[in-house]
Amino acid sequence: MSPLCERLTTDIAGQLAFGQPLNTQVEATNRLFPRAMVSMNGLVNIFMSWPMVSRTWPLLRRLNKRNGLTFIKAIQDIVQRRMTIPQDGKHDFYSIAAGDGGLAADTLRNSELWAEAVFFLPAGGTTLSAALSAIFFYLSRDLNVYSRLATEIRTTFSSEDQIKSGAQLSGCKYLRATIDETLRVAPPFTGTLWREPYSDYNQPFVVDGKVIPRGTMVGVNPYCIMHNEEYFPEPFRFRPERWLESEQESIDEEKQRVTMRAAFAPFALGETGCLGKGMAYHEMSLVVAKTLWRFDFQKASGQLGKLGEGHPGQKGGRNRVEEYQLLDLAVADHDGPNLTFSPIGNGF
Ligand code: HEM
Repeated sequence: MSPLCERLTTDIAGQLAFGQPLNTQVEATNRLFPRAMVSMNGLVNIFMSWPMVSRTWPLLRRLNKRNGLTFIKAIQDIVQRRMTIPQDGKHDFYSIAAGDGGLAADTLRNSELWAEAVFFLPAGGTTLSAALSAIFFYLSRDLNVYSRLATEIRTTFSSEDQIKSGAQLSGCKYLRATIDETLRVAPPFTGTLWREPYSDYNQPFVVDGKVIPRGTMVGVNPYCIMHNEEYFPEPFRFRPERWLESEQESIDEEKQRVTMRAAFAPFALGETGCLGKGMAYHEMSLVVAKTLWRFDFQKASGQLGKLGEGHPGQKGGRNRVEEYQLLDLAVADHDGPNLTFSPIGNGF
């Protein structure tokens, strides 16, 4: 599912940003682009964790030349194609961000729009492919969750055309709970969200009773906080039900849910939190609902079906078979699951 989800979310990000089809799902031409974005995430992650290393950028750029050129060329192509259409010709990111009167081709690479594009495409593409691959992984491991979700989708809509944004889709409470639980157990942004208190702070900056010296970066890792047992009981269990409000909720249960909500931070919190959150929920909801409307799926048989799992005895926290394995490149890299699909009603 990883390459398929990567291509889908890359194509959607290209449309959203520059109204252009990258067509990675149906043509080979731009297929290196999704992987090139992942490589770039890896480099940015190293620079974020160890800023000194960014001095080696010219060398790294050479070593990573193939991916780097693919990345730049693909972005250049879609932006330049977009520039041939009037600015308000499409309702996309370009129409808003290109500034009054658009942009001249010769200033593209030095423009703010270029920097935004280099950020925007991976922000929308690589995060969502991690989220979608993870949701397919968890659905293929837990038959109860799978059946409950499939029933919700198949009884809410009476035709595929109805699966679109609106009250019916947002009314699918179990779908939303499954998405939230996936973003909790497998946060697509795995990097630590470092923050530096403002330098003009007059008051000491205090965290948990400890004064943090000026200039010190503090951060909470999304994976860690969302696996903290204090906030999420049985943190390694995939249990969408934890997000559902029950009719006869005790005060303790209500408190627990409020605490969980406060610690739920896959999109970060505060001023620099994700601007694409609404889009992310919308895209995930549509993809999962439409897939379950058309298909049944299950984990592939044998060794192939294990792709994406942890391995018993493996070190570094990778021993949980039922946990989807993420690789921390700030935005998570991933591989798997392998699934088999069958048109609904045909059986396997
Ligand atoms: C499940 C999917 C997604 C996750 C988990 C996610 C996560 C995040 C996180 C954690 C940040 C904050 C990074 C920081 O503060 O250092 C962020 C920022 C951002 N994201 Fe997302 N994102 C997702 C999807 C998207 C999509 C689909 C788009 C665009 C359509 C998008 C656009 C942005 C933008 C523009 C920012 C920067 C906000 C700012 O600095 O003002 N994201 N995202």
